[in-house]
Amino acid sequence: MPMSSRLVPVARLSDLRESRARRVVVEDHEIVLWNIGGRVFATTNVCSHQHVAALHEGILEGLTISCPMHGWTYSLETGIAVRGDGRIRVYTVTVTGNDVFVEIPETTS
Ligand code: FES
Repeated sequence: MPMSSRLVPVARLSDLRESRARRVVVEDHEIVLWNIGGRVFATTNVCSHQHVAALHEGILEGLTISCPMHGWTYSLETGIAVRGDGRIRVYTVTVTGNDVFVEIPETTS
């Protein structure tokens, strides 16, 4: 079965400060937007270690985010852990003009 998705507007690009987290909630998705050098990334806020919603308070280093709880660190591009284990969810971002959209998968079967 093909998985469908839709683009949901989540922020204005001009409101995203460089290297700062912006937490947004879209339905049951808790998402953090990251503006790194003008590129926008979107990850879940929930760490894959103990499922704590804390990544928005984590430490950015390059294109990685470290969880403030125990330091598991994830790629913002792929979500794959570079320290710790597993991966976090990442969302596809589309920027059109000043509008930032995140691709949200449909959950209906
Ligand atoms: S909850 Fe994130 S590293 Fe432990």
